[in-house]
Amino acid sequence: MNKWFYFNFLLLIVAAWKISTNYAFPQLHIHILFGMVALILILFNWTRHAVFSTIRSSTTRSKKIKYANLSKRILPFHRWIGTTALLLIVIHATLVINQFGFDWKNMKIVSGLLTGSVLVGVGVVISGWMRRIKPSWRKRITHLRLGLMMFFLILLHIIL
Ligand code: HEM
Ligand code: HEM
Repeated sequence: MNKWFYFNFLLLIVAAWKISTNYAFPQLHIHILFGMVALILILFNWTRHAVFSTIRSSTTRSKKIKYANLSKRILPFHRWIGTTALLLIVIHATLVINQFGFDWKNMKIVSGLLTGSVLVGVGVVISGWMRRIKPSWRKRITHLRLGLMMFFLILLHIIL
């Protein structure tokens, strides 16, 4: 198994642990629910990287074929899962700002905005759509690097 399978799983566990030790638990606030569902969708898409790395590094042909077929079957959903995640994050951020107000000293807000802006602005989603419309090596690397950056920003956002 590629190390990214473990990293993705770890981020999910950290988020679940954070939420279960939250001040309000077991009552689940709607803004947290939106954040968590978006996280699951993002991790699902990011797992594509783990699958591709496994294909590249595996030695047996049958394993390569198995993963390639799996990856092909999921591809039609990839862009809609990513776009939905973006929508959920915008709702998550709107709910959070409505509830807590906007405070630059609040690290959760700052790290959230950073993560959100990678996903929104220059973002994974835009590079993804550009890549789909007209693929190029540069767009592939941009999409991949922004995805990687987003992974670590989300980790920061959740542990802070
Ligand atoms: C990809 C982007 C994002 C993901 C996956 C995400 C996910 C999450 C998750 C799972 C939580 C609950 C866990 C915890 O309390 O630590 C959370 C909390 C929070 N998020 Fe985000 N978030 C994102 C973007 C944002 C943005 C853009 C903002 C900016 C307004 C934001 C602000 C917050 C705040 C203030 C909390 C704490 C809420 C509380 O303690 O009740 N997040 N986020
Ligand atoms: C949460 C958001 C997203 C994440 C984390 C994500 C992540 C990834 C990853 C890891 C890959 C494989 C990278 C590689 O080439 O080695 C990939 C491929 C790709 N992504 Fe995304 N992506 C997201 C959203 C989107 C969106 C919204 C689109 C819109 C069309 C998109 C389009 C593509 C395309 C066209 C490919 C190449 C097709 C293929 O995998 O064979 N992505 N993405």
